Amino acid sequence: MSSQPRRVENLHTDKGKVPVYATGIVEQPWDGYSDDDHATWATLFARQREVLAGRACDEFLQAQDAMGMTPDRIPKFTELNDALMAATGWTLIGVEGLLPELDFFDHLANRRFPVTWWIRRPDQIDYIEEPDLFHDLFGHVPLLMNPVFGDYMEAYGKGGVKAHGIGPEALQNLTRLYWYTVEFGLIRQHDGLRIYGAGIVSSAGESVHALESAAPNRIGFDLERIMRTRYRIDTYQKTYFVIDSFQQLMDATDPDFTPIYARLAAQESVPAGTVLAGDHVFQRGSGEGWSSEGDV
Ligand code: PHE
Ligand code: FE
Repeated sequence: MSSQPRRVENLHTDKGKVPVYATGIVEQPWDGYSDDDHATWATLFARQREVLAGRACDEFLQAQDAMGMTPDRIPKFTELNDALMAATGWTLIGVEGLLPELDFFDHLANRRFPVTWWIRRPDQIDYIEEPDLFHDLFGHVPLLMNPVFGDYMEAYGKGGVKAHGIGPEALQNLTRLYWYTVEFGLIRQHDGLRIYGAGIVSSAGESVHALESAAPNRIGFDLERIMRTRYRIDTYQKTYFVIDSFQQLMDATDPDFTPIYARLAAQESVPAGTVLAGDHVFQRGSGEGWSSEGDV
């Protein structure tokens, strides 16, 4: 953003006062992070990098290094923004938490990525329900350095604004696409399956599960199939979808979705763990440990 928006209030938090601007954007209270906060970042960062070697796609790991994300301390958004701006023109903005959908889409459509400013408490190190700084920054931000993936995220934001105008069912279809790509996507690399989804790379357990467990299905990317598929929010995914490249994602999502939403409205949704006749199955899951309830 070129001009600084008007400051409207302060959030009163355990880090002291956090400035909030008229747009709802929060200034990263970097000096307010405690030693515990930096230690949480360092612990999670070191642990994930160890798990992700040979598991996350090369683009992710290289981008994280290239943008200067290290375990030493919680990164400053302003510093990451210099690297992002030079690479792809993306900007990080601080937020308190999840945004209203339309605001979120509008930010993405303008190459602004909202990042939760606070990090989980030490006792939440293995699991936290809401996205925090570690999930957003470690998980989502590196791939914004990638030109094709960066374009996909912007296109997704524009598609979100459009779907929002069409209605809740279109929005649900689009949300499933986000879930199975941006959050839980796998990619086929020259040497086998790798992870690119932020929900996986920010979770030690799911990073192993997504690639190595016999339980889940691993199925080739298919746009309409994904947009019909329900998902899990409180357990590991029952199904992961595999792309061949970020360009495939870009090309497959380029067409106008309006007729696709209309077509999907007439079809049943697919439960999270179901394998369909037309699927390109890399692995049919054993279903071990699955609970029958709870698909969203
Ligand atoms: N092409 C989609 C549309 O017309 C927009 C979109 C692009 C959605 C990329 C998701 C990802 O709505
Ligand atoms: Fe996320």
